[in-house]
Amino acid sequence: MASFIFFLLFLFIILGGTTPAVGQSSDQSECYDWGESSESAVAVMEAESGWLSCPLFSHPSVYNYSSTQNPGHNLFWYRLPEGHDLEQPITYSSRISKDRERLWLQPALANDTGHYICMLRNLSSCSKIAMRLKVLRRDDVVPGNSCLPAVAMAATPVMIPLQQGAKVDCPDLQNANKMADGEPTVTWFHGCNKFPFGSSDRQLKGVSLQVHVMMDHYQGLYYCRVQYQRRGQTLNFTRMLNITGIYPDSLPKVPSILQPTKDKVLIVRQDKEVRLVCRGLFPYVDSPWDIWWTVDGKTVEQLNDSRFSKVKTRQVKYDYGDRQEESVLVIHDFQADDRNREFNCSVKNGRGFETRRVRLDVEVVLPSVELGCGLGVTLVLMLLLFVVYHIFWLELLLLYRSWFGTDERHTDDKEFDVYISYARNSEEETFVLSTLRRVLENELGYSVCIFDRDSLPGGTITDETLSFVARSRRLLVVVSPGYASQGSQALLELKAGIDSMALGGHLRVILVQYRPLQRQGWVRELRGARVALALVRWQGDKSEDLTSHFWKRLRVELPVRRVNSKEEGGSGKDVALMRLSSQNSTNSQTGLISNTVKHPENVYNYAA
Ligand SMILES: *[C@@H]1O[C@H](CO)[C@@H](O)[C@H](O)[C@H]1NC(C)=O
Ligand SMILES: *[C@@H]1O[C@H](CO)[C@@H](O)[C@H](O)[C@H]1NC(C)=O
Ligand SMILES: *[C@@H]1O[C@H](CO)[C@@H](O)[C@H](O)[C@H]1NC(C)=O
Ligand SMILES: *[C@@H]1O[C@H](CO)[C@@H](O)[C@H](O)[C@H]1NC(C)=O
Ligand SMILES: *[C@@H]1O[C@H](CO)[C@@H](O)[C@H](O)[C@H]1NC(C)=O
Ligand SMILES: *[C@@H]1O[C@H](CO)[C@@H](O)[C@H](O)[C@H]1NC(C)=O
Ligand SMILES: *[C@@H]1O[C@H](CO)[C@@H](O)[C@H](O)[C@H]1NC(C)=O
Repeated sequence: MASFIFFLLFLFIILGGTTPAVGQSSDQSECYDWGESSESAVAVMEAESGWLSCPLFSHPSVYNYSSTQNPGHNLFWYRLPEGHDLEQPITYSSRISKDRERLWLQPALANDTGHYICMLRNLSSCSKIAMRLKVLRRDDVVPGNSCLPAVAMAATPVMIPLQQGAKVDCPDLQNANKMADGEPTVTWFHGCNKFPFGSSDRQLKGVSLQVHVMMDHYQGLYYCRVQYQRRGQTLNFTRMLNITGIYPDSLPKVPSILQPTKDKVLIVRQDKEVRLVCRGLFPYVDSPWDIWWTVDGKTVEQLNDSRFSKVKTRQVKYDYGDRQEESVLVIHDFQADDRNREFNCSVKNGRGFETRRVRLDVEVVLPSVELGCGLGVTLVLMLLLFVVYHIFWLELLLLYRSWFGTDERHTDDKEFDVYISYARNSEEETFVLSTLRRVLENELGYSVCIFDRDSLPGGTITDETLSFVARSRRLLVVVSPGYASQGSQALLELKAGIDSMALGGHLRVILVQYRPLQRQGWVRELRGARVALALVRWQGDKSEDLTSHFWKRLRVELPVRRVNSKEEGGSGKDVALMRLSSQNSTNSQTGLISNTVKHPENVYNYAA
């Protein structure tokens, strides 16, 4: 006896040492806990039969019931009633029984609702998982006084090709077969209508519903109630079917691409978001379908480029089982290089596959904003130039002449730049001698001829005048009220000038007005020539400054004289010497200056 107890103790220690969780005391902390099943709660109608399947076996690759039974595995069921936190072993009865991986409730009672745990264990390992059971009352499922049967589970979809026949079985009937003592019976309903349904198109074949010719109006929700006897008890459960007509099998079932069409060219814009839409038609087949985009043969996931993304596939149309699905490829910021990429849309189901490349053309967009800005800027610039020209035209003209104008001294053999003609013994005489001459000779470097000063005593006045005028490049006429009165020296000069100009003697006449003057006061010769001649007006003190309008205007009319011309050649020396001389003889009205100008070689002698 003692040895027997010792043996039991020994056995307990051995087994306890290897598997501490063994024994009815069930210390389940050693058991691997899968938590609660991710499948939704099992729903059973009150008073109907129902069952729980251990979720461990819903993944046969991990737990295969047939194979786990062999090495001494045991499946245990526990219950955690609502409001309790302690698992209780199930007490089996005729109502609650175990069959393979299922726990049967025949029938289910309202207070069966709660958590259930199935535990699979052998000597060395243990796993468990929990699930929920909900026992529903009729009121939970169908509203008040509806004629519809109450069903706890979702409808089973059934597809029947239109114009064709099909046999429909009640779901889970085979499970009842195992429990039933005899053959179960099945009652069929179409909506609220109990079988028979009037026409002979739909009949019973054994326990199955036989549809001979499927019609559009035979679609809808069907109910089947399975009733069976078990141990003298009548049990039942109800199932729901969603019968849908689909296009006949004779129609093609391969998927096709509706959009983009074969020859359509999509116009896209560069640097913009481009959305490529693909629409596929999937006729109903009992197999998975797919629609996807590839870029150069790679899916968006394989590409792993943030510029490419896709919009979740959506159903566009459903028509007797045929579905149209749309997949959108989004290209952010379309680049010029993308034009050469291969954008393919592909569709696939159990019957076939199709792929199509989308043809893209990049639209040339006129950058309207940029163009507008450019035009605006150009206009503003033009306006600015216009204004600048109007304010500074004299300066611009002088600048232009200083760069591109030809120095007349190189092209003619004249002696004087300017011959000044004026009325003697007038206000203008003072202006000519003290201002005009001084500035032209000293400041601007022109060679000036003033008859009274430069003519040699003894000559014939008429011949001398004509000769001097002919040897000048410009005739500067200072007009005044008494200018060119009959028989005066000025009239002679003016006539000589106008004649020389008219005869092409390379002379130009410029009018300078010292005081405001009515045109009536002008001599006939001047009046006639006025239109063709430049008139430069002296504007009092304003014109004193060398940068004033008067002098600039005058310089424009006078021959080109470059600033740097002073440093070059003989003519430059002429000017320099002339300035020197005129400084020495500021008050002298006659004499040396014109001689030095006329005979430059003398200057060297004089200077030496
Ligand atoms: C489960 O195991 C049995 C016997 O071990 C085997 O015949 C069956 O194919 C297995 N099922 C799956 C889904 O692995
Ligand atoms: C469930 O309710 C039935 C009566 O409807 C009762 O006989 C049974 O004891 C109850 N079970 C529990 C666990 O409350
Ligand atoms: C218990 O089951 C596991 C797999 O589920 C197996 O690997 C192990 O050998 C079994 N242990 C015994 C003692 O049968
Ligand atoms: C079977 O279904 C009927 C009708 O829903 C119900 O009244 C009855 O309680 C159920 N159970 C049995 C065993 O008949
Ligand atoms: C029945 O199936 C059709 C087609 O699949 C579906 O549009 C409809 O919503 C389903 N009805 C119910 C009640 O499930
Ligand atoms: C995608 O690219 C990023 C970096 O560019 C990288 O971190 C990530 O692992 C890539 N993902 C895949 C699936 O290749
Ligand atoms: C893309 O589609 C064209 C037909 O439009 C096909 O010739 C080409 O092989 C497809 N490319 C890929 C990568 O599937």
